[in-house]
Amino acid sequence: MPLLHVDDVVVQFGGVTAVNHANFQVEAGTITGLIGPNGAGKTTTFNVVTGLQTPTSGRVMFDGKNINRLPVNRRSKRGIGRTFQRLEAFGSLTVADNVRVALDIKRGLRGMFASTGNQVHDLLELVGISSYAGDRADSIPTGTARLLELARALACEPRLLLLDEPSSGLDESETEDFGRLLQKLAGEGVTILMVEHDMDLVMSVCNEIHVLDFGSIIAYGTPAEIRENPVVQKAYLGYSDEGPVDPDGPTNDSNHDTAVLDAVTEGAAQ
Ligand SMILES: Nc1ncnc2c1ncn2[C@@H]1O[C@H](COP(=O)(O)OP(=O)(O)OP(=O)(O)O)[C@@H](O)[C@H]1O
Ligand SMILES: [Mg+2]
Repeated sequence: MPLLHVDDVVVQFGGVTAVNHANFQVEAGTITGLIGPNGAGKTTTFNVVTGLQTPTSGRVMFDGKNINRLPVNRRSKRGIGRTFQRLEAFGSLTVADNVRVALDIKRGLRGMFASTGNQVHDLLELVGISSYAGDRADSIPTGTARLLELARALACEPRLLLLDEPSSGLDESETEDFGRLLQKLAGEGVTILMVEHDMDLVMSVCNEIHVLDFGSIIAYGTPAEIRENPVVQKAYLGYSDEGPVDPDGPTNDSNHDTAVLDAVTEGAAQ
């Protein structure tokens, strides 16, 4: 039984169908990628899993149970944690206090048993940002703030961790460290579902990848299978068998997407 099953989920915002009968599963203990062009519905899908967004139809099964009716905090208690694409740390608190707050919430806000400095330190050490412990969260670099988000999510001891573009703002060597950290977490039993535009990272750490396009899963498989999948290349590139349909077309109009496309084609060419 998969740990997570997003079962035929639809999300409509007025006339916009952000998620269109999305259907995929995440096996326990794996690192799974959820990739797709800008606006494909990745963040909305995360919001449905965590309970921030009620689906128009469909259901989310976690550990074999339908959790559609559970509010965000109950899902967190069951073991679903996340980080946000837009950073959500408390800017006026220090890095250490941001983690402390998360630990305290996990412990049930019982002040007399406040979380220890050791726990805070261990989490900051784990994600590699302990040298920033005393800095205000709004003064640290973006990449570091993403790692702080990760530390806060880990404070809640998630069984399933959803990461929304966690490596943006990290340089190449920090991204490599981050990939190793993800593998360590997975080795310790944390199941990871990751939205990520850095294809090198996705291809190197994921056991399985699901590709979302216009709100629907158009392909899934191992990194090698995804690289070679013509449907994926077409969705990213607007490629037909003869070559690019419209190189200046809407799927190819940002550096962001172009980087993804280059990575996928490079992979396909290998
Ligand atoms: N609250 C909302 N109200 C209306 N439309 C929304 C809302 N949230 C998302 N959308 C629309 O739904 C679609 C999917 O958005 P979503 O943010 O899930 O995409 P994404 O795959 O995460 O994109 P990106 O790679 O840019 O982060 C987009 O067309 C977006 O404009
Ligand atoms: Mg998004």
